Amino acid sequence: MAVRKDTIWERFLSPIVRSLIDEEKLRQLYKSIDWQAESDRLSNPQVIYPHYYSSQNFHGIEGGYLNPSASVSYDPITQYVLPPNETWVRQGLIERIGGTPRRILDLGCGTGSTTLMLKQAFPQAQVMGLDLSPYMLVMAEHKAKAAWLTIQWRHGNAEETGLPDASFDLVTASLLFHETPSAVAKTILRESFRLLMPGGELLILDGNQKTLRQVDWLTEVFEEPYIKDYASQSVEAGMGAAGFEAVQTHDHWWMHQVTQGIKPLRANNPAATARQEFTSNTSQDFGSQGTPAPAF
Ligand SMILES: C[S@@+](CC[C@H](N)C(=O)[O-])C[C@H]1O[C@@H](n2cnc3c(N)ncnc32)[C@H](O)[C@@H]1O
Repeated sequence: MAVRKDTIWERFLSPIVRSLIDEEKLRQLYKSIDWQAESDRLSNPQVIYPHYYSSQNFHGIEGGYLNPSASVSYDPITQYVLPPNETWVRQGLIERIGGTPRRILDLGCGTGSTTLMLKQAFPQAQVMGLDLSPYMLVMAEHKAKAAWLTIQWRHGNAEETGLPDASFDLVTASLLFHETPSAVAKTILRESFRLLMPGGELLILDGNQKTLRQVDWLTEVFEEPYIKDYASQSVEAGMGAAGFEAVQTHDHWWMHQVTQGIKPLRANNPAATARQEFTSNTSQDFGSQGTPAPAF
């Protein structure tokens, strides 16, 4: 695992976190998985990795999320970098969900930590997690199986998912937007709008943009190639521009924010056709287009 040496993380924090992590256990977990077979099974060969994604070493890991070791180390490290407590932070998104969604899509789901919480909060809902990294999806599937949760995992790009219009009543994204250039974030917001039924809701949990602007060194802690771009923007404004209404941002434990908005009922899109398409599928089959759904 190649890492850059000049971030605050590498110089100061990594040795502390390293001492808290059972590296031998991680090595065993890494070795226990046939990465080639598992990632092949979950991969959609039609997915084209965008340059912003495949060209960067997110968190100092060479190859970023396209390196299987990133998916094994992600959870053990993340628990120490989401103060004051990872579950409380993620719970901030879950608690703000209005109503009882029946079809949920978690974009940039990674190893599925928030996706699993969504399924636990809404056990009757059909839940799908979508990510560009098949390796992250391997870990997500592993966790869902261990928790006896039925979640559909889909390899895809949140900018252009290939899923039908108006096929979800809740779309979420946790910790995705700070890892995308602002132009990509805008495209993902438009795609979320398209995927939601009128009246459906989008919730985004991520770094607090106000705090990041005020406390500049926070953007230097990790190797996060797009975090300054993210900090300079406003997710809330982006959601408004994408057509969402009742958009509001809530500060969450100073370091984080939850932004939410509703797709207006009068939104003009080919929802009727898409709804028909959706209901004609079997209950667990979200997308009849694009990749076949990964088996679980
Ligand atoms: C910081 S991780 C967050 C993972 C997870 N949502 C969480 O809360 O722990 C960012 C994730 O977004 C994924 N990602 C980045 N750009 C994406 C895109 N355009 N489409 C789908 N996934 C993307 C990465 O592969 C990675 O798994």
